[in-house]
Amino acid sequence: MSLAIQEQVSLRAYNTLAVDVRARFFVAVDSLEQLQAALLWAQQQDIAVLLLGGGSNLVLAADLDLLVIHLQLRGIQVLDEDANFARIEVQAGENWHDFVQWSLAQGLSGLENLSLIPGHVGAAPVQNIGAYGAELQDYFESAWVYDRQTQQPQRLTKAQCQFAYRDSLFKRESGRRVILSVIFKLPKQADLRLDYGDLRGYLAQQQISAPTPQDVSRAVCAIRAEKLPDPQQLANTGSFFKNPVVSAEHAEQLKQRYPKLVCFAQADGQSKLAAGWLIDQAGWKGHRQGDAGVHAKQALVLVNYGTASGQDILQLAAQIQADIRERYGVELEIEPNVLG
Ligand code: EPU
Repeated sequence: MSLAIQEQVSLRAYNTLAVDVRARFFVAVDSLEQLQAALLWAQQQDIAVLLLGGGSNLVLAADLDLLVIHLQLRGIQVLDEDANFARIEVQAGENWHDFVQWSLAQGLSGLENLSLIPGHVGAAPVQNIGAYGAELQDYFESAWVYDRQTQQPQRLTKAQCQFAYRDSLFKRESGRRVILSVIFKLPKQADLRLDYGDLRGYLAQQQISAPTPQDVSRAVCAIRAEKLPDPQQLANTGSFFKNPVVSAEHAEQLKQRYPKLVCFAQADGQSKLAAGWLIDQAGWKGHRQGDAGVHAKQALVLVNYGTASGQDILQLAAQIQADIRERYGVELEIEPNVLG
């Protein structure tokens, strides 16, 4: 099998933070056979690989002395359906938002709260994408992966994927498995989740009293567009930090000092704080250092105004982390994957 391997390729167009680093080698693959051939080539050259999808959750901090494999497997297939559910298999290289819109157009629901999240379907399980009270794992059934250790394709169940908040087996054992396709079990009857954030308020304002999944999707798109920059217009990688979880005592102490602190009690008794609120209150919102900045409408998002490097972004992130540690005694963990 012939592979079109390119050399010294700029990755600027392949990461939504629009950081301009070079990959020593680059190849696009659209089948399992091509993926295997590319992995074999890298093994023969004794060179590391980076599996790349939509590049929407990535900070590239330096040129990469490796082979970037850009996953372009495409296709959506209805596996089976009954009166209540349909099982849909989606190839990893499909655009996430386009797939969500496709599912809604088929009369399937479940994914409406996850509208407009950037990136590819194959990346969605890695960080168990979530928004507006829904997570990928709610409708995930299984995934076909290629296990680089056993060199075999394997089907993983939901339990095997070990999903948690912005976390999964794929993130914990990073690099071992390549997600080839994801199988969703989507309900035909709407089961809407409207309790999170501004969703209900937005729908009421639009005078929509009995919303459909499509209405919820439109509401999510509108709310996201207000706060989260479109990577095509202003380069970014979504939330740059995870929302930190602290002990109930710690949250209580902070609440006494900052009565408006945004925090949510967790099932295990701990408290999840809104990192965006902490960063905003510390005065960082809209702050700009060269071309690296904190988004003016959402302090959780770091943006690249043009020529910021991954290092510039990480330096800004480190300053924010140090300030948040000092002010609140809270450790902020970087959410996207950092490479190089
Ligand atoms: N807040 C501020 N100032 C800010 C940002 C937020 O005061 O600059 C406050 C908000 O007013 C709100 C609270 O902090 O009371 C939480 O903010 P928001 O509802 O915007 O959500 P988030 O916790 O900041 C999370 C996800 C987003 C997801 C939204 C909506 C994480 C790390 N982020 O953000 O996910 O879209 O909820 O569900 O969990 C992503 O992962 O890339 C992402 C965008």
